[in-house]
Amino acid sequence: MSTDHMNIDIHTYQVPSRLLDSKKCPKPHIDAIEKYKQLYEESIKDPQTFWGRTAKELLHWHKPFETVLTGSGFEYGDVAWFREGELNASYNCVDRHALVNPKKTAIIYEADEPGNSRHITYEELLRDVCRLAITLKELGIKKGDTVAIYMPMVPEAVVAFLACARLGAVHSVVFAGFSSDALRDRIQDASSRLVITSDEGMRGGKTISTKKIVDDAVKDCPTIEHVLVFRRTGSDVPFSAPRDLWWHEEIEKHRPYCPPEIVNAEDPLFLLYTSGSTGKPKGVLHTTAGYLLGAAITFKYVFDYHENDIYGCMADIGWITGHTYIIYGPLLNGGTTVLFESTPVYPTPSRYWEVVAKHKITQFYTAPTAIRLLRRYGNDYVKDHDLSSLRIIGSVGEPINPEAWEWYYEVVGRKECTVVDTYWQTETGSIIITPLPGATATKPGSATFPFFGIDPVILDPTTGEEIKGNNAEGVLAVRQPWPSMARTVYKNHHRYLDTYLKPFKGYYFTGDGVGRDNDGYYWIRGRVDDVINVSGHRLSTAEIESALILHHAVAEAAVIGVADELTGQCVHAFATLKPNEEKTDVKDLILQVRKVIGPFAAPRKIYIVNDLPKTRSGKIMRRILRKIVSGEADQLGDLSTINNPSIIPVLIEKVKSS
Ligand code: WTA
Repeated sequence: MSTDHMNIDIHTYQVPSRLLDSKKCPKPHIDAIEKYKQLYEESIKDPQTFWGRTAKELLHWHKPFETVLTGSGFEYGDVAWFREGELNASYNCVDRHALVNPKKTAIIYEADEPGNSRHITYEELLRDVCRLAITLKELGIKKGDTVAIYMPMVPEAVVAFLACARLGAVHSVVFAGFSSDALRDRIQDASSRLVITSDEGMRGGKTISTKKIVDDAVKDCPTIEHVLVFRRTGSDVPFSAPRDLWWHEEIEKHRPYCPPEIVNAEDPLFLLYTSGSTGKPKGVLHTTAGYLLGAAITFKYVFDYHENDIYGCMADIGWITGHTYIIYGPLLNGGTTVLFESTPVYPTPSRYWEVVAKHKITQFYTAPTAIRLLRRYGNDYVKDHDLSSLRIIGSVGEPINPEAWEWYYEVVGRKECTVVDTYWQTETGSIIITPLPGATATKPGSATFPFFGIDPVILDPTTGEEIKGNNAEGVLAVRQPWPSMARTVYKNHHRYLDTYLKPFKGYYFTGDGVGRDNDGYYWIRGRVDDVINVSGHRLSTAEIESALILHHAVAEAAVIGVADELTGQCVHAFATLKPNEEKTDVKDLILQVRKVIGPFAAPRKIYIVNDLPKTRSGKIMRRILRKIVSGEADQLGDLSTINNPSIIPVLIEKVKSS
C-alpha cells in the first residue's frame, strides 16, 4: 500500500478567514475545531444522547421513538435505530417546508440547453409529488412495493423519488447510463412493479433513448405492470398501451394533495444497486429514519447549510451522491438545490462556472474527475465568471490528487472557500470522513477527520488487528453503528454479512485502504478489493469479466484497473478466445461491455491473448497483469505459484505492442 502522503511535507490550509467573518458569510454552525472535538466526543461516547437529540431536531416524527439504537452491534446485522418512531420521508422533505415557506425555491432546474432553467417552489413540489403519488396509488403501488426509476436529470425525477416515499414504496433508481441488460437485471432482482422513465434524455447536446432502453429491458421482466413515461423531448417514441402511460395524462386526473403513508423508522426507503467483488450487483437497502437523519445532519454541517444558500451538486441522481446530496439532504433542511442536467463541458468548459454565477451558488459539490478535466482546459474558462457567491466547494467519489485539490482551492475557490473532500460510500448512506468548513484545517488529498458518530479504525489487513495511534496504514473499518448505514443487501442478508461485517469481526469493513498521518488526518488510498473507480463510477472487475464472457467468442477474461491521470482509473481487459474465433474484433468486445453494463464501463483497452497467468488451482493472477500493464514487469514478486510462467514474456510483448 502506498504511503505517498505520509511523511512528505504537505501544506496545511487554515479555515479561510472570510468564512469566519460575519460581515461576509453566515456564522458557521461549527466555527472552531474545539467545538467539533467536543461534539464528536459526545457522539462517540454517548451515541444514544447525540443521535436521540439530533433525530428530534432534524426530523419530523408523526410518532416519537422511545429507543435510539438497538441490536447486536455488528454481529448479525440487526441494528435498528429509533425503532418505535414513525414518519414519512416526503413529509420531511416537502410538506413541513411548504407549510411555513411555500414560496421558497426547492429546486432550480438547469437544463442541458444553456439559458433554460426553471425554479420550483416548495408548494409546487408538494403538489407535483402528491399528484404523482395518487397516480402511483391508482396503478396499485402501495407500501413496500418496489418502483424502478430510470430518468434523466429533470425535476420530475425528484418528484418520482418523493412520490414513492410518500406511499412508503421503495424506489430503486437505476442510473440512466446503464444499458437495458443492466436495467433488466436490477428490475428483476428487486421485483419492481413499475418503471418511471422519460421519452428521451438530453445530456451534453446528445439524445439518450431512455424509453427504448426501458422497452428492451422490460421484455424479460414479468413483474412490470406499467411504464410511466415523462415527456422530456417530445420526440416520437415507441409506446404500447395499456402497459405504457403518459405521465402528463395521468397526473392531471388527480388532485394535488395526497396524505403521506406514515411508516416505521426501520421500513425501507430505497434500494440502490452497487458493484462489489462478484459479478452480481448488490441491492443496498436503506431504511427511512436513519438514512434521513444521516442525510440531514451531514448536509447541515459538512456544507454548513444556512437559510439563504443556493446549493449545487453536480452528481447524477442515479448514484448515491445524487440521492443524498441532490435530493434528501438539501430538501430535509428546507434548502434550495440545483439540478444540473448537462456536463461540465457543454457547450464549453465554462458551463459549471456559468451556472455558479447565474444562480449564485454558495456550495458547489463535484467529483475529482471533473476537476482534473477542467484544470486541463485551463484557468481562462474559470476566470471570467463571478464565483464570489461560493463559500464551500466539495469533492467526492474518489481520491483527489493534491494538484487537482490546489487548483480547485486557488482557481475556483480563490483561496476564500473551504474545500471539503468528503469520503463515504453507497453503503454508508452519508458522508463519514470530512472536514467541517468553519473548523477544520485541510490538507490537499486528505478527507481529514470522522464526522459525528463515526468511529473509524485502521486494521491490519492480514491479522485484522487494530493499528492504534498516528502514522498508521491499513484498511478502513468502523467500530460503531451509525444511523444511515445500509441495513442489508436486498434478499441477500448473507452477502451483506459476508461483505461488510464478517471480514473483520466487530467492525463494518469499507473495502478501502487508508492511512492516518502524524496529525491524525485520514488519507483514503482507494479500494483494496476487486472494485475499481472510473471517474467516480464504481465498477466491479468481476462484473465486467462476466459481461465479456457472455460474448460467444470469449473463453476467459481478466479485468484490471489501471491508473489514469484524468479518470483516476480506467479499465483494461485481457481475453482469451474460443477455438476458431481468432477473427473476433476487439471493438466487438468493447461493445459487449457497453451492452451488458453501459458505456461508462467500457474497457479502454482489450488485449487478446492465448493464455492468462494462473495458479496451479486455476485462479487467474490479476496481480501479474496489473504489474505488466503499469510497466512494473521487473517487479512481479513471488512467481512460485504460477502454473504457466512462459506466458509472462508473451504478455509483456503484447502489452508493449498495443
Ligand atoms: C471511493 C460514492 C477517496 C471509495 C459516495 C469508496 C473516495 C467508493 C472518496 C464508494 C473520497 C468516495 N476520497 N475515495 N473523498 N469518496 N471514494 O459507493 O473507494 O459510489 O469506497 O459512493 O468511492 O463509491 P460509491
